[in-house]
Amino acid sequence: LASIEVNVAALQPGMSLTVKWRGKPVFIRNRTPKEVEEANAVALSDLKDPIARNANLGADAEASSIDRSAGAGKENWIVMIGSCTHLGCVPLGQAGEFGGWFCPCHGSHYDTAGRIRKGPAPQNLAIPTFAFTSDTVITIG
Ligand code: FES
Repeated sequence: LASIEVNVAALQPGMSLTVKWRGKPVFIRNRTPKEVEEANAVALSDLKDPIARNANLGADAEASSIDRSAGAGKENWIVMIGSCTHLGCVPLGQAGEFGGWFCPCHGSHYDTAGRIRKGPAPQNLAIPTFAFTSDTVITIG
């Protein structure tokens, strides 16, 4: 299946972009230092879903901020399928009680690492296969 390349050179910290991949929205966000800090401050034991749900890591990887991100040195970058894990609505960015994403359909709140924190959604927002293929280009798929 097709992969896509996305140039993220223009995305400053605090900016997001939504692209379409395999018919689904994919959220790309350059997280602010505060957002990364907030995500790091959460104990894994406080998470409803402690699994990273990151297609680039093993199925047992934990949902730490770094393992939900593009990894070491690129911890500010987060790439996720924009489909609520409850019934698939598209969550709104920078909304909800945890400063991340909020699904208005039935009230699921995701944090700044896209982890489900409150509401009916069972899992963290899924992270697709992706990689930085240059300093400014992300290849998804
Ligand atoms: Fe998102 Fe139900 S589809 S809360």
